Amino acid sequence: MQIRVLPLPEEKQKKKCSDESKLGFGKIFTDRMFLVEWKAGQGWVDARIEPYGPFSLDPACLVLHYGQEIFEGLKAYRWQDGSVALFRPEMNARRFNHSAERLCMPEVPEELFLQGVAELVRLEADWIPTAPGTSLYIRPTMIAVEAVLGVKPSDHYYFYVILSPVGAYYAGGFNPVKIMVEDQYVRAVPGGTGEAKTGGNYASSLKAGLEAKKKGFDQVLWLDGKERRFIEEVGAMNMFFTYGNRVVTAPLEGSILSGVTRNSVITLAAELGFTVDECKTDIDTIMADIRSGKITEAFGSGTAAVITPVGALCYKNETATIGSGGVGALTQRLYDTLTGIQTGVIADKFGWVKKI
Ligand code: COI
Repeated sequence: MQIRVLPLPEEKQKKKCSDESKLGFGKIFTDRMFLVEWKAGQGWVDARIEPYGPFSLDPACLVLHYGQEIFEGLKAYRWQDGSVALFRPEMNARRFNHSAERLCMPEVPEELFLQGVAELVRLEADWIPTAPGTSLYIRPTMIAVEAVLGVKPSDHYYFYVILSPVGAYYAGGFNPVKIMVEDQYVRAVPGGTGEAKTGGNYASSLKAGLEAKKKGFDQVLWLDGKERRFIEEVGAMNMFFTYGNRVVTAPLEGSILSGVTRNSVITLAAELGFTVDECKTDIDTIMADIRSGKITEAFGSGTAAVITPVGALCYKNETATIGSGGVGALTQRLYDTLTGIQTGVIADKFGWVKKI
């Protein structure tokens, strides 16, 4: 599809952050955004890259009332030779359309998704930070913009992409986080939207997250919504537990997100000689195995979170330290290997990296 590139007036050009250690996560946005509209009877029309700025939305539009919205997260990396790489962007495009199907939104053709992302990143390449642990976070989003108060799928959508130079998702950087196992609220139920990347899942997680923060924890680990027994995910990341040379993670059965990083970790861990079990594990077993030392380390995986070590888990007021409470050997190896491939320091034998 032809993408129009609108002029960027000088007054809309922002100053870049000179200290990349202060980027944080998702607080700064680049100069331009990609936008294309879908209209019933017409399909996708008027793809353009325009100056970053607010939308003028009708106060009645569907996304503001019924949350018909989906999004993705991926990253662009600046390599030492100056080139720019994306990591497995086609997986994000496919997951986006899986979410779209669940939310009754139109499919974004994979080529359009990838073209919008690539052309925008190419134009904004100067914004890609280079300090270790930094990258350009890419947020493709679709919102329902028809102005009507009836509960129904919209007849008008915006698919847009914004970019944010980022550092680590957690303020502590690559350091162990403390996670509280949530036993009161649930994130997803069988048949619900847990597998879709939609804003409502995150809105409904806020209360538990705030309560966990008040108790000194970084995030919550969700249990299954039916029996409140089986470990699921952490919202911003999928969870892994290491038992010596075996790694365990929750299976993809419809209520957790199918993480691109999760999938990459499974491949890398197997390459490193670990057995990976995608199996249902109940929280009592996890806590007992942490206590007895059978679980040697735990970590989360996600685009924003990359690989995040988990130092302690709290369930029903018992806090158990995992391993030494520090960064486990496999966690460190996976972090180094994954970020090495993403930044071109380690050869990519999987064909994951896409130069743009
Ligand atoms: C991502 O990892 O890209 C996500 O979308 C998680 C988000 C909560 C920051």
